[in-house]
Order: sequence, then structure tokens, then C-alpha cells
Amino acid sequence: MFKVGIITSSDKGATGEREDVSGAIIKEMVQEKGYKVIRQVILPDEKDLLAEEMKNMADNLAVDLILTTGGTGFSKRDVTPEATIQVCDRMAPGITDAIRYFSLKITPRAMLSRAVAGIRNDSLIINLPGSPKAVKESLEFCLDSVHHGLEILTGRDSECARKED
Ligand code: MTE
Repeated sequence: MFKVGIITSSDKGATGEREDVSGAIIKEMVQEKGYKVIRQVILPDEKDLLAEEMKNMADNLAVDLILTTGGTGFSKRDVTPEATIQVCDRMAPGITDAIRYFSLKITPRAMLSRAVAGIRNDSLIINLPGSPKAVKESLEFCLDSVHHGLEILTGRDSECARKED
């Protein structure tokens, strides 16, 4: 069972002015997949705070997967990708490229997502968009492939051959 950390990046969410629906959706979806959510936080859109929490989840809590929601757009306060880049040692652009490609069929505004994904030691970090609708669509699309990536990253599977090959 993979361990998951969830970070919601939202100034309004952090002060309690806005309910964290997207974080709750992520939690429900990964639990349905059989993953265990071991930490879930709401933080203001502050790069250093976001980076510190990603490091805490990866280094101290040894989570396999960190999912962020929010802070990937063009607003001046949107800094989740920058925090993610700061803490990752290897980037995994294919994941967020694929999410954007898929999402463009739903809305051209998907091009406005600056989301990134990357690896810090044994933890995979993926930025998801902020809206509940976008989070659900993005996660539904990527979760099966991400699962396989986690198996390889954590050494539970060593090859990419598809079962049907
Ligand atoms: N992706 C999907 N699948 N569905 C959507 O509705 N909305 C987009 C995009 N990605 C959307 C989506 C919009 S409107 C924006 S501005 C960007 O994600 C960035 O979102 P964020 O600033 O909430 O993180």
C-alpha cells in the first residue's frame, strides 16, 4: 500500500475562508485505490512553506506520493511548481505533460496550468490544478500510470512490460 501526502495550496483555504473540496477529492480517490493518506495539510501560497512541507513528507514521513492541488496558474501568488522544482532532484515532465494533453480536450484553458512533477529521493511529487473538477479529471486520468511509476520508483516492480504484451 503506497503512502500519500496531500498539500492544498490556497491562501483562502489556509485561513478557513474557503472549504478544501479539492484536497478532500484527492483523499477519497487515492483511498479508493487502496493508498493510505498519512498527512494532509492546507498551506498559504508561499513557496518556502510549500517546499518545507514537501521535504517533511518525503524525508521524515517517507511518503511514496505527494499530491498538491492549487497554485499552478498565472496568479502572482501561484508558486506551487516553483516550490516543487526547488525540492526535486529529478523531474518527471511526462506526467504533467500528459495531464495537460488530456485536459486540453476538455478545456483550452488547460494550457494555463504550469503544473510540474518530479522525484525527491524515493518520493514522487505531482502538482494537480486547483479546482475540484480539474483535480478529479486529472487524477482519474493519471492514477493507473502513476501507480506503475510508484512500483518502479519503490523497487516493487522492475520492468515496464505490459501484462498483455
Ligand atoms: N484541467 C482539467 N482537466 N479541467 C479543467 O477544468 N482548468 C484549467 C487548468 N487545468 C482545468 C484544467 C484552468 S482554468 C487553470 S487556470 C489551470 O488548470 C491552473 O489551475 P490552478 O491555478 O487552479 O492550479
